[in-house]
Amino acid sequence: MIKLKRFKFNGYNYNLLQKIIPDSNNEIKIRFATSKDIAEVIAINYKTLPEHYSNSFFMELLLDSPETFIVAENNNRIIGYIMCRIEYGFSILKRMSLARKGHIVSFAVLEEYRAKGIGKKLVEQAMDGMKIKKCNESYLEVRTDNQAAIILYENLGYSKIATLNTYYKDGKNAFLMSVKLNKEN
Ligand SMILES: CC(C)(COP(=O)(O)OP(=O)(O)OC[C@H]1O[C@@H](n2cnc3c(N)ncnc32)[C@H](O)[C@@H]1OP(=O)(O)O)[C@@H](O)C(=O)NCCC(=O)NCCS
Repeated sequence: MIKLKRFKFNGYNYNLLQKIIPDSNNEIKIRFATSKDIAEVIAINYKTLPEHYSNSFFMELLLDSPETFIVAENNNRIIGYIMCRIEYGFSILKRMSLARKGHIVSFAVLEEYRAKGIGKKLVEQAMDGMKIKKCNESYLEVRTDNQAAIILYENLGYSKIATLNTYYKDGKNAFLMSVKLNKEN
């Protein structure tokens, strides 16, 4: 769990949350993003995902919820990120209820760094950030053929709630996935 005391927005790069050490010379840091990271995050977004956003949208999400904008860094290079939006509205999990929701808007790891557990750590850390922001549920949209991401989310407790037909610009469908946030996850 992130300790609030340690949280410094846009301070040094060293809002370190945890380290992943796949081998002893090649440590990977999981830390809060700062505005200096945004250009690299946007470059990863272009390389890895078909959904792109304006530069100002990345900044807006960072300013609005730095607790849920997390990056993975290796040798001073950003190699993965997750960014989320905090929303208030109808619950996805409980009909006719209101909820504070952590929406995973964009999330990726560079191809050469995949299957090392980095993606999982980024989502776990974002879920911690959502709890700091007092969210009681989290949700996301994922392409129905994105098996790697779907398995990762399911392992972290997310369930498929609905299929969103022709959700993406290219006409492809999405699964809406959601999880209740509590002390156990
Ligand atoms: C989805 C993505 C971020 C996963 O990142 P990653 O660092 O490779 O994921 P991890 O190594 O943390 O994997 C965590 C778990 O996810 C599952 N998983 C990840 N990749 C998988 C794959 N290719 N096939 C099956 N399961 C996979 C596994 O269960 C894995 O757990 P395990 O290592 O205990 O088996 C990465 O594949 C990616 O950037 N894809 C392109 C962008 C994208 O699709 N983003 C999500 C949009 S919703």
